[in-house]
Amino acid sequence: MLQRTFSIIKPDAVRNGYTGAILAEIDRAGFRIVAIRKQSISGPQAEGFYHVHKERPFFGDLCVFMSSGPLVLLVLEKDNAIADLRKLMGATNPANAEEGTIRKRFAGSIQENAIHGSDGEDTAAFEIGYWFAAYELI
Ligand code: CMP
Repeated sequence: MLQRTFSIIKPDAVRNGYTGAILAEIDRAGFRIVAIRKQSISGPQAEGFYHVHKERPFFGDLCVFMSSGPLVLLVLEKDNAIADLRKLMGATNPANAEEGTIRKRFAGSIQENAIHGSDGEDTAAFEIGYWFAAYELI
């Protein structure tokens, strides 16, 4: 089933010069880029995006990190996009990520873990709509 998911190349990966290599992995895995935008985000924008984590102990630090520099927002499309992107990303903690995954190759820590991907259909719909207007999805 053709499906869309939302992804972020996080500030650590952009800072380390991995944007192109990560986009190449995404392309090689067969995703179509529906929307793409490099920008910086504010602390409150990060807090709104990660609102489901607001009670978690890492929430404050996570939002500071996500607003610490430019990142790349993406909407991606392919069959089974949500699960396939999460497989390509690898485990949240790069120490547990499988060989060949984006986090194994490019992430430095559980927080600064290079890439985000939606974890379900409802989340993907919220996350796409949070960052992109319908007319930008082409
Ligand atoms: P992401 O997939 O973007 O979803 C939530 C983010 O919170 C996660 O990637 C990590 O960047 C961060 N995160 C999750 N668990 C922890 C943790 N235990 N400590 C610090 N950061 C975390």
